Amino acid sequence: MTQHANFLWGAATSSYQIEGAVNEDGRTPSIWDTFCATPGTVTDGDTGAVACDHYHRMPEDVAIMAELGLDVYRFSLAWPRVQPDGTGAGNPAGIAFYDRLVDELLAKGIRPWVTLYHWDLPQALEDAGGWPSRDVAYRFADYAAIAYEALGDRVSQWTTLNEPWCSAVLGYMTGRHAPGRQDARAATAAVHHLLLGHGLAVRTIRDLAAANGRSDALEVGITLNLAPKLPASDSPADLAAAHWEDGFANRLYLDPLLRGEYPADVADRLGELGCPLPVQDGDLETIAQPVDVVGVNYYSSQMVAAAPTGQNGWPAPATLRRDVPRTAMDWEVTPGALTDLLTRLDREYPGPAWYITENGAAYADTADETGYVDDAERAEYLREHIDATLEARDLGVNVRGYFAWSLLDNFEWSFGYDRRFGIVRVDYDTLERTPKRSARYYAERVAAEKKAA
Ligand code: NOJ
Repeated sequence: MTQHANFLWGAATSSYQIEGAVNEDGRTPSIWDTFCATPGTVTDGDTGAVACDHYHRMPEDVAIMAELGLDVYRFSLAWPRVQPDGTGAGNPAGIAFYDRLVDELLAKGIRPWVTLYHWDLPQALEDAGGWPSRDVAYRFADYAAIAYEALGDRVSQWTTLNEPWCSAVLGYMTGRHAPGRQDARAATAAVHHLLLGHGLAVRTIRDLAAANGRSDALEVGITLNLAPKLPASDSPADLAAAHWEDGFANRLYLDPLLRGEYPADVADRLGELGCPLPVQDGDLETIAQPVDVVGVNYYSSQMVAAAPTGQNGWPAPATLRRDVPRTAMDWEVTPGALTDLLTRLDREYPGPAWYITENGAAYADTADETGYVDDAERAEYLREHIDATLEARDLGVNVRGYFAWSLLDNFEWSFGYDRRFGIVRVDYDTLERTPKRSARYYAERVAAEKKAA
């Protein structure tokens, strides 16, 4: 055994993107059910009503994970299944699904890694104000307690939020995601209340783990989407543009979580724009609860240049197109920036273990008559990004694992089923699963890395 023996290899999914069964066993609507029912929000009017039907096909999906040789599976709980109204007692019938999933994983030797919130807020809580409302942070901590009490005897790895930037900015500022609001002031309030909810939930989970003698095994943290913002030149204007973008996308989350303070340049500017962060006494101490892990979802980086100020005085730097390969999302393929990101994180925010909790790519797949997809590009994307991750590890970064996004083709939010990220194909007519070439590549790579460790 070497120092690398404890590196974890996994795949990730999320509840609304794969489960379907939206009306079963007491689940209530989430903001995504409502959003999808609103015309014009999602490509082709797609919804998560059936998705991959994972709710009914879970054992088959776990068997696929076992065949691929995964150590760990990252999935999220649907809050409206676990606690349908977002308040009050848990729902035993909804929780039972996750009980079965966890037991199935453990029976196959796969470690369960739970994300509490991957964007499916109970609609009842949005009706009560959603994340712009401070109360939702407290509701989130209560939900975390219900989830931990149900699964904490078997689950040690807990992520509070997935990509709070997306929940706040896409959900409340641009309106591209549920609940589809376009209100910058609400969005910055959402940023703060998401982070507050995270801190309250971490505290809750740690307290419950301690009370049950499980603190040693516990690894709790958050997952952020972090994308390097590279200045187009070293002109002061381009440097300032990239610094703002890095501030609004990355430092606005990293700094309060890991340094206990909002980045002053960003917080001041948001205040000037009439969108202050609604911080109350003690909030930053709560937000900066020590975390064991920080998950990094990495897909791409952007090259940023100065441009005229946008609507209502908001900075609106230009993103330049570089001459590099692109995925079907039009995202630039920049694996080298992942190594740089990890080394920066470990240098500027030392302490937590870092995990790549998502990495992957959408491409225009074509299946043969057996359902097989020869997705050489996706396999290559994975290869380059695994190499980039391991390079950072070899440089001494405390990066402990890698999760492919995604195990299955699934509901890609506002793009519906039109974008496929899976290493396993899902035929949406028959719901049949077929591992792609990228799944074979990943299984072989994982086996080889484990052997070398
Ligand atoms: C990040 C999100 O967490 C996930 O839900 C999404 O499908 C992928 N990015 C790809 O866009």
